Amino acid sequence: MRCLLTASLVVAGLAGNALGHSPSPVKRRKTLGFGPDHPHAVFHASPYQIKTNGFTPMGADVDPIKVAEVFVTDVLGHQLSESSSFRIRKDSYTDVNTGVTHVYVRQIVNGLEVADGDMNINVKDGMVISYGSSFYNGAIPTPFTNLDSHLLRHPHGEYCDILETELAVLDNSLLRGEQIVLGDRGGKGEHLVHMHQSNCQFPDLANELAIPSSDDVADFRPALLQFMVAATPNDEVVNSILGNFDAHVDKMVIQDHSDFAPSGETIEFLVDRVPDAVNPVKARMAYIQVPNKKGDSMHLNLVWKFEVEMQDNWYEAAVSATAPHRIISVVDWASDAPIPTDPSTPEPASYNVFKWGINDPAEGDRSMEKENYDVLASPVGWHSIPYAHDPSLKGQRWSKSKGFYRNTTTTWGNNVFAQENWEGQNSFIDNYRPDAGKSRVFDYKYNPKTTNKTDAQEEAQKYINTTIAQLFYTSNMVHDLYYRYGFDEVSGNFQQYNFGRGGAENDAVIANAQDGSGYNNANFMTPPDGQNGRMRMYLWNTALPYRDGDLEAGIVIHELSHGLSTRLTGGPMNSGCLGWGESGGMGEGWGDFLATTIRSTKEYSDYAMGSWAANRVQGIRNYIYSLDEAINPSTYKTLDKPGYWGVHAVGEVWAEILWVVSQGVIKKHGYSDSLFPPQPLEDGTVPAGNFYRPAQGNKPLVPKHGNTLMFQLVLNGMKLQTCRPSFFDARDAIIQADQVLTGGENFCTLWEGFAKRGLGPDAKVEGRTPWGGGIRTNGYELPLVCQEEPKKPKYPKD
Ligand SMILES: *[C@@H]1O[C@H](CO)[C@@H](O)[C@H](O)[C@H]1NC(C)=O
Ligand SMILES: *[C@@H]1O[C@H](CO)[C@@H](O)[C@H](O)[C@H]1NC(C)=O
Ligand SMILES: *[C@@H]1O[C@H](CO)[C@@H](O)[C@H](O)[C@H]1NC(C)=O
Repeated sequence: MRCLLTASLVVAGLAGNALGHSPSPVKRRKTLGFGPDHPHAVFHASPYQIKTNGFTPMGADVDPIKVAEVFVTDVLGHQLSESSSFRIRKDSYTDVNTGVTHVYVRQIVNGLEVADGDMNINVKDGMVISYGSSFYNGAIPTPFTNLDSHLLRHPHGEYCDILETELAVLDNSLLRGEQIVLGDRGGKGEHLVHMHQSNCQFPDLANELAIPSSDDVADFRPALLQFMVAATPNDEVVNSILGNFDAHVDKMVIQDHSDFAPSGETIEFLVDRVPDAVNPVKARMAYIQVPNKKGDSMHLNLVWKFEVEMQDNWYEAAVSATAPHRIISVVDWASDAPIPTDPSTPEPASYNVFKWGINDPAEGDRSMEKENYDVLASPVGWHSIPYAHDPSLKGQRWSKSKGFYRNTTTTWGNNVFAQENWEGQNSFIDNYRPDAGKSRVFDYKYNPKTTNKTDAQEEAQKYINTTIAQLFYTSNMVHDLYYRYGFDEVSGNFQQYNFGRGGAENDAVIANAQDGSGYNNANFMTPPDGQNGRMRMYLWNTALPYRDGDLEAGIVIHELSHGLSTRLTGGPMNSGCLGWGESGGMGEGWGDFLATTIRSTKEYSDYAMGSWAANRVQGIRNYIYSLDEAINPSTYKTLDKPGYWGVHAVGEVWAEILWVVSQGVIKKHGYSDSLFPPQPLEDGTVPAGNFYRPAQGNKPLVPKHGNTLMFQLVLNGMKLQTCRPSFFDARDAIIQADQVLTGGENFCTLWEGFAKRGLGPDAKVEGRTPWGGGIRTNGYELPLVCQEEPKKPKYPKD
């Protein structure tokens, strides 16, 4: 197992730390993730907080974008000037069901974006109902310079000394803690290790390589190469860069950017031949906020922002533009896991699969299931794709007489491309996928024999047809389900073609079965809207025969939920909102919660995550999800425990809290056997059936039962919450989602659920550090209106 400072930078995937306790020969994916904390960031969801900004609601008929613009101007009035402004992002949209317009705003200083200066403003009927902001509010630097910042202005020896001191402090407190798993620290510890290693591994790199003087910010190639040194998992690449720095700089080709400068927005460059990148890197200059020495105010730092797609990672990094090129923030878009109708739509396909609701092979048998697509979510089914949007036909001509859609007889469609990826490489178009021919009956046997370890992989590969068909089926079901709860085209879902309904296209999920790049895990990469999501499912060598993650729906759902939460939080075009800490943890937690909700039934039961694939009853988390505190004791305060610094452990706490809240909502509203809403009528309207409450004018559709309502509130909450949300922000967004949807009739039910696990209104976190630390206090109180006999508010004792 790795030790603190010398080991490689790795983080466990879906499996989190549970499997990490025992040494395993399995290679883990290297990933970097850290960035400055934003102590000044806010998420305000109460009208009182919004009114104090001096903003007056406007008429319900005023364009919501206009409302947001006026609001931003009001809030920032004193700060706006020629050198400080903002722009409304194009991925802003209106939720058709709730009527809430989610407006995303980026801060602009000296004509450059502030990479972490985000606002999300939620507008309904001319009113701002909530907003989040991490806009920079300090002095404006002279163009192309930095304001003083302790983190970066230190001569590098000193900068690295600071990090090392912090690490030592952390290490001591870890050693005093109850669980010491050095190989598996995440969260705070992980940030520091990553930051130290990425930036201080070669303390004199900038000097040794004679990287241009610190005033020269025009050429980003040295900064990019330094980033690659930190990012690549490959020692040979590191040696090659260090040994031939200038040659690498010269080799990198900056493509003509004239077609890459969207009107009036920041100029972007495309760079080819970047070592270890699998596609040209995007680069643009920006500012980022960095804390001062005391951590009580922020400064603006000039950075190069890179988007780097690699074999196992897809990074968005901010690297200081001036030498030494420190990596200030880095997000890996990869997360481990563990109404038009076309008359030519063909007969539905069918698949021999573990049907929707059967979580894994231990829970039931396979059966023949129809391509039961949702006509709203997938109007032309799962196996049709417009010729013009089919990447396998790129550059080819096809005859218009063939029509608009191409019908496929393989696992290739508008939402999902499912294929084998034994080589573990990046290409997918020509990889193998089963072809069921004209009948499109995907009926393959599944009967793996017990072999010895040497033969186990080959044995598993015999069932590749079965496993791809299952992955295709589950992934399309998830696409359709999430669609019906509002993960549609404008909010950033994954489809090659959007049927003219808005949003960015050409971004179906690339789903790789039995991916050769790992074992005992799974992961998902979520770039911004308009670029394909990439899911990689692995074999698990935890039993003989090997278990295939593709067959465990909970793992597939968990992974696809990364795409959901990343695209919904902070807007479709911002994939950097759930990178680390509490937000990164919730990114894991939502996946567990949604997977568990999908498999659950009317009869309450506790559930484990990944227990079939991992071959352990307890699954891959510390606890199974349970209402019973004796079985799962997680509370908000649990996040302070040393073993709880990784995103999976944080996520497990969040999923448990949501599970508890959800059971309260179910107790109140009952249970729906299916999570799928009814199909629309011929005129396109959706009937209430027994699923929604009876329609009332043009009020939003409200799911009638507890499990469906909670599902809806969780998704709507993701749309409302701020970029880089804390547990408090995500909780408040769910409570506001209920306010918008039902007028707040579950206000007390929701608070009761949150308070049961310490996330009541009196919960607190104190002493946040730039590394994401702090001491949490559980809050078990309820808001006064929810108390039967209103008590005096209690203040937590120290
Ligand atoms: C797709 O399939 C349907 C029904 O099988 C057929 O009518 C239609 O012509 C097909 N489209 C193409 C482009 O082959
Ligand atoms: C997989 O399916 C194809 C047809 O798509 C078939 O030719 C092949 O034999 C099958 N492979 C296995 C291993 O069953
Ligand atoms: C595994 O089993 C195969 C087939 O029975 C056999 O040929 C091979 O030698 C075995 N390998 C080991 C390491 O036991």
